[in-house]
Amino acid sequence: MIRARITGTGSYMPEQIRTNFDIEKMVDTTNDWIVARTGIEERRIAAEGEYTSDMATRAAERALEMAGVSASEIDLIVLGTITGDYPWPATACIVQQNLGANNAYAYDISAACTGFVYALGCANDFIQSGRGKKVLVIGAETLSRIIDWTDRNTCVLFGDGAGAVLLEASEDGDAGLLSSHMHSDGSYFDLLYQPGFGTRIMLSAENYDNRSNYLKMQGNEVFKVAVRSLTSVSLEALEANGLSASDVSLFIPHQANKRILEATAKRIKLNDDQVYINVHKYGNTSGATIPVAMDEANRAGMLNAGDIILLSAFGGGFTWGSALIRW
Ligand code: ACO
Repeated sequence: MIRARITGTGSYMPEQIRTNFDIEKMVDTTNDWIVARTGIEERRIAAEGEYTSDMATRAAERALEMAGVSASEIDLIVLGTITGDYPWPATACIVQQNLGANNAYAYDISAACTGFVYALGCANDFIQSGRGKKVLVIGAETLSRIIDWTDRNTCVLFGDGAGAVLLEASEDGDAGLLSSHMHSDGSYFDLLYQPGFGTRIMLSAENYDNRSNYLKMQGNEVFKVAVRSLTSVSLEALEANGLSASDVSLFIPHQANKRILEATAKRIKLNDDQVYINVHKYGNTSGATIPVAMDEANRAGMLNAGDIILLSAFGGGFTWGSALIRW
């Protein structure tokens, strides 16, 4: 049986740190409120002239370096992002050019915070179908440019960054992706979205003054559905593989908010030491949170042969999904 194995991980976080104390000077909030409600202490902000494609490229280079694979060997690049360099073409094509991955084809996936998990699912299908052997799966975001830095309800939550994994076809042993589950429910689309500027709410003086080009969110509603969906899709992954919570070596959830992660972990019946959390350092980087956390955990020696790794994400759309991996 062909399985998709992760043979390299990489990440890139911009240098500039914006702490809660910096945000205290921008809107009516406090470090204590942000830490108590979200667990976030600081986030990274892309430098002027630094774009989603740049961060994605750096993360991908690091994943390729770890795997010992050259860019010309890649068959496919899938990039989960909602903050691409341009409305189109796909930022994945710019990454392809940066890497010199001339034998690949490349596309973006728009599934908000679930973007990486969707991309991983598509890459897994591609490999299992036998269509190709090496896929770069990336999550990269420059959310700081679609955040309204005058809106305290949202600006405290998000940050920038990129993470990547290299998936390779393997017929040896039983390591690799065991399953992927993906869902969406468009009836919730306007609880978390960016109204402008697409082809519906177009760039105009009025829409610009309305601040339509910034992320809008009904946090309370998102919170409730996020916990419910992350729990159900995590249990779905375990059940599909005949496993239980005690079999999970590490749960790497989308890093949205520490309270969401703790509530989800409790419902799945995972202990604290089974859950990887880095939201305090980076905030919510949407499609980038899971590959960044995976790379950190991997480089810290926390992912070992045979480990069962559970990934689950939830985001705008609403979209949600999971992947279960035997390392
Ligand atoms: N500083 C101080 N006070 C604030 C701030 C702030 N930054 N933001 C909101 N408040 C106030 C509100 O105005 C409100 O005041 P009021 O009672 O006088 O009206 C009060 O705090 C409580 O507001 P709530 O929205 O009820 O606070 P809640 O406990 O729900 O926390 C939060 C808000 C952190 C946004 C939470 O709802 C949340 O995390 N939701 C999930 C959002 C999320 O993670 N979205 C990311 C994308 S989806 C995903 O990744 C899962």
